[in-house]
Amino acid sequence: KEAILLVGGKGTRLRPLTVHTPKPMVPAAGVPFLTHQLARARAAGVEHIVLATSYLAEVFEPYFGDGSSLGLSIDYVTEREPLGTGGAIRNVASRLTSGPDEPVLIFNGDILTGLDIRALVTSHAASGADVSLHLTRVEDPRAFGLVPTDGTGRVTAFLEKPQTPEEIVTDQINAGAYIFRRSVIDTIPADRPVSVERETFPGLLASGAHLQGMVDSTYWLDLGTPQAFVRGSADLVLGRAPSPAVPGRCGDRLVLPTASVAPDAKLTGGTVIGDRAVIGEGARIDGSTVLADAVVEPHAVITDSLIGAGARIGSRTVLAGAVIGDGAHVGADNELRDGVRVWCGATLPDASVRFSSDQ
Ligand code: GTP
Ligand code: GTP
Repeated sequence: KEAILLVGGKGTRLRPLTVHTPKPMVPAAGVPFLTHQLARARAAGVEHIVLATSYLAEVFEPYFGDGSSLGLSIDYVTEREPLGTGGAIRNVASRLTSGPDEPVLIFNGDILTGLDIRALVTSHAASGADVSLHLTRVEDPRAFGLVPTDGTGRVTAFLEKPQTPEEIVTDQINAGAYIFRRSVIDTIPADRPVSVERETFPGLLASGAHLQGMVDSTYWLDLGTPQAFVRGSADLVLGRAPSPAVPGRCGDRLVLPTASVAPDAKLTGGTVIGDRAVIGEGARIDGSTVLADAVVEPHAVITDSLIGAGARIGSRTVLAGAVIGDGAHVGADNELRDGVRVWCGATLPDASVRFSSDQ
């Protein structure tokens, strides 16, 4: 079996963490996020993977090589100009080895999910569909592409980011994993940007193709935003999100072996401390990800935040839902909350940002 992974997006919502690193290479639970997806695909029987790269394309191959360390054979295809999700799929067609009627799995590179990949393959074969899609149910579908189905699971429409109540006809959304019959990939236009969600799927439906939805409501999270990314990383550590690539039993936290943590520091809620990071005495870190070479000075209090590689957080500083870019320096006695982002390499002087005590 073979799969395409779409990993070429710019990851704008995850900036500044995606300034130097493409989103699928940002570490989650101690390894580049993509490692979890590759390991899950391998566990489901996939042997050949084509990575469709564009933004910061050069970093993938030096890390994953030919894929043999994961038991995979990995090919890399880089777009000259970003081709969008559909264009990226079409652009790797020449690397596929499947026959015209065989199934090709396709995954967005930023989804953390417990999807039963084998069940999707089985459902695809049983229904005889041209394309099968993983659907999941969400409470507020407004930010997603809705995919209503009939009683047999056959897709009846694609509704991108509906806003009015009348448009919200289902709670089923496109969860970012598909199976295409190999020959369907060749029908996507080559050499121009194409969105699989906005153009290919609606076009296939209009032409009478059979698109089949499979609802699988196990763990599902789109790691596109910083808030979602830290939560996904913590859920991997806590065992709430499944991955064969999470190192060992890590309990409430994951401290990489080369990190240095003061004995009375408190790490909870799936916190990850990256390579060579240093955590000072009395620091309290909950549900957060601290990347490699970052320094957290004594008595800092950090919750639900992402600290970039080589960043430094000053003593007693409070971070709650903040994102600190690579190499940034937040001085002592600051307080940053609710989605504040500090750019890569930026410096915040001591005691320069505060919230009033009644907030
Ligand atoms: P945002 O800029 O924050 O929306 O993130 P993104 O650029 O990753 O876009 P989005 O989350 O919609 O992309 C879904 C998946 O498709 C991700 O895994 C992207 O890496 C991938 N992707 C998006 N656009 C392209 C593209 O032009 N080429 C390739 N190869 N992959 C893409
Ligand atoms: P327990 O599972 O609670 O017994 O901890 P552990 O020692 O097994 O934790 P783990 O193997 O995940 O961490 C390896 C090293 O990281 C530990 O020996 C500690 O030096 C450090 N560490 C991990 N968690 C904490 C924590 O919450 N506080 C402190 N101060 N250090 C920690």
